[in-house]
Amino acid sequence: MKKILIVGAGGQIGSELTVYLRGIYGAGNVVATDMRDCTATLGQDGPFEVLDALNAEALASIVSRYQIDAIFNLVALLSATGEKNPQLAWKINMGALNNSLEVARQYNCALFTPSSIGAFGPTSPKDKTPQDTVMQPTTIYGVCKYTGEMLGNYYHQRFGVDTRSVRFPGIISNVTLPGGGTTDYAVEIYYEAVKQGRFTCPVPADVYMDMIYMPDALRACVELMEADPAKLIHRNSFNIASMSFTPEIICAELKKRMPDFTMDYDVDPVKKAIAESWPNSLDDTCAREEWGWKPEWDLSRMTDDMLEHIRRKMNK
Ligand code: SER
Repeated sequence: MKKILIVGAGGQIGSELTVYLRGIYGAGNVVATDMRDCTATLGQDGPFEVLDALNAEALASIVSRYQIDAIFNLVALLSATGEKNPQLAWKINMGALNNSLEVARQYNCALFTPSSIGAFGPTSPKDKTPQDTVMQPTTIYGVCKYTGEMLGNYYHQRFGVDTRSVRFPGIISNVTLPGGGTTDYAVEIYYEAVKQGRFTCPVPADVYMDMIYMPDALRACVELMEADPAKLIHRNSFNIASMSFTPEIICAELKKRMPDFTMDYDVDPVKKAIAESWPNSLDDTCAREEWGWKPEWDLSRMTDDMLEHIRRKMNK
C-alpha cells in the first residue's frame, strides 16, 4: 500500500483509521472521503474529498487522480438502523461495495472491506464460532456482510482483485461514536458512566457478544493488508477475536472503578433479537495462523483507557 483511499472516512472506524494510516504511510498518501464535508477534521493534515460512494464515476475519478493502489471501503448502515429500512441498507451497503469492487478491478487496487460478527446467524455454532461454518444471518446488515464476503472472494478468484476482510466484533472507541449498531451499548456505557454515573442498557444482561478495542481493530486492518498473500488461505473474511462479554460483565468492570455506578435495563426488542442471533465468541485460529493476528487489549485495560480519554474529553 502506497496511496490509500478511505471511503466513508467520517464514521467510527474511518475517523481513526485515517489518522492511523497517515501516521504509517504519510499524510499526503492517505485520501479521506465521506459524503459529509469533513474538511475541518480529516482535511487538516492530508487530502479530503467529498464523495458519495454510490457514485461510481466520482469514485473512479478520485482513484485515478490520486493514483490509488489500496481502497478501504467503510461505508455501512449498521444492524439496528438497517432493520428500520432494509431496502436502504441494501442499497447503501451493497452499492458502496459493488462500486469499490469494480473500481478496484479497473484500477488494479487492493480492497479492504470490513465484515462483521453480524454475518453469522442463529444457526451458526454459538461458542468459539469456527472460521468456516454455517452462515445464515437474519438481519439485512448480516445479509449484506455475508453477500459481501462472497462477492469479495468472487472478485479475487475471477478477476484477481486483492480483496481482504476481517469479521469485526463490536468496536469500542472514544473518538467518533458508532451509530445504529447492536454493540453500541458497550461504547455508550462509558460515556454515560462518566457523564451521569448511570446507564440504561438496551441489550439483555446475559447476552455475550465479541468486542474489540479500536487500537487492535486498526492494527488488524494494516496487518492483514500487509500480510504475505502466499500465506492467505482465506480472504473474505477472517474471524478475529479479542474479548467477549455481557452487559453484566462490563457493568461489573465499571463498578470496580466507580462503585456508585448503576445500570438498569430497557431492552430494545430489535437489538435483543439481533444480539441473541450472533455468536457468543469467535474462534480466530485462522487469522492467527495465516497472518499472525494477536489482540493486545482486554476488558480491564480497555476500561481504564476509555475512562481516562472520556474524562479528559468531558473535563470530568
Ligand atoms: N457493530 C455492528 C453492529 O452492532 C456489528 O458489526 O451493528
